[in-house]
Amino acid sequence: MRTEAPLTLLSVEDDSIQQQLICRMLERQGYCVVTAGSAEQGLEMLVRQPVDLILMDVNLPGMDGYTATQWLRAREKAQGKAQWHPVIIITASDTPDDWRRASECGADDYLTKPLKPHQLAAKVAIMMRLYSSYQELKHTRKMRALGQMAAGVAHDFNNILQTIDGNAEMLAEDAAGNSLLQESIEEIQRAGRRGKRLIDEMLLYVSEAPPILEPLDLASWLAEYADELQHQLPSAVSLHVSLPAHPWVRGNAGQLERVLDNLCGNAIKAIKATGHLTLETWQGRKYGGICVTDSGEGIAPDDLETIFDPFFTTRDVNEGTGLGLAVVESIIQRHGGRISVESQLGEGTTFTLSFPLTTY
Ligand SMILES: Nc1ncnc2c1ncn2[C@@H]1O[C@H](COP(=O)(O)OP(=O)(O)O)[C@@H](O)[C@H]1O
Ligand SMILES: [Mg+2]
Repeated sequence: MRTEAPLTLLSVEDDSIQQQLICRMLERQGYCVVTAGSAEQGLEMLVRQPVDLILMDVNLPGMDGYTATQWLRAREKAQGKAQWHPVIIITASDTPDDWRRASECGADDYLTKPLKPHQLAAKVAIMMRLYSSYQELKHTRKMRALGQMAAGVAHDFNNILQTIDGNAEMLAEDAAGNSLLQESIEEIQRAGRRGKRLIDEMLLYVSEAPPILEPLDLASWLAEYADELQHQLPSAVSLHVSLPAHPWVRGNAGQLERVLDNLCGNAIKAIKATGHLTLETWQGRKYGGICVTDSGEGIAPDDLETIFDPFFTTRDVNEGTGLGLAVVESIIQRHGGRISVESQLGEGTTFTLSFPLTTY
């Protein structure tokens, strides 16, 4: 998506005074305006120049604006891909027949001359909002296709890794007594486990299947989770569990465990010398959830916007996949919930999970 560049409008208008007026009005609003004096020239320009919106005069030398719009729609359709250039028809005539023709030719809106700057600015702004939703939708479709591809690749990779792991295990039996060979085999097995984890996370991230949700008392669930976690904590990290609220939510225990594993794993890594990790429940009127707080190194303000992006990591190549928080966010979203983060460099970080409350 070309969201950073200024939006480009194509104004098709044969009257040079009118054209200047349109350019001035729109350039003042921060748009980049390109111009054409005829429909034929405008259609030709569209082939080479990316345009976000077209202002189309009706009475033009040669092809008129209605025909040009119709022609453009036919071309977009023939190109097969999801293609759409919003068109606003501009004309001096304001009869019912004009309105009918504008809608029939495939135009998206209609403005009459003399143009009023505030009307033009408002219509263009509204159309641009629609256009950017359309661009986002196109992007989502592309991402979905990419997800399906990733799922296919991940499946094949799983089989490949199983072959490697199975053979490494057999070799390990034969390598008894040869420490150099054993070390190499262990390295192969470690790499295999890393690959498996990456693929598991990728599959979880791109999965579109809605999780099976069951009523869950988050406080009891968290108490059990914390018991397990206690056994695996490095001695430098002390765990505090606080359960002042008993929010009931609809959740998938397996996936929520994955969420907490990722958040606690990150928290533990963020604690460099000694520190504490706090797990706490909370409940409001309609929402409830869990806060995960650590007294670790914190997250730089610039990174806060990107930590949920897939493959964003500040760790060394073999240390992190950068998929942990992306997976966490997608699981929470599939639960109808939200996740937010607050952090202070050098002080620590809190991740807040929020789910709609349910009755049990
Ligand atoms: N609790 C935390 N404290 C400090 N930094 C964190 C914390 N949680 C996440 N991060 C930052 O966010 C990045 C992305 O995390 P994540 O998606 O889990 O991927 P990974 O752990 O593989 O790097 C981490 O590399 C780290 O920089
Ligand atoms: Mg992580």
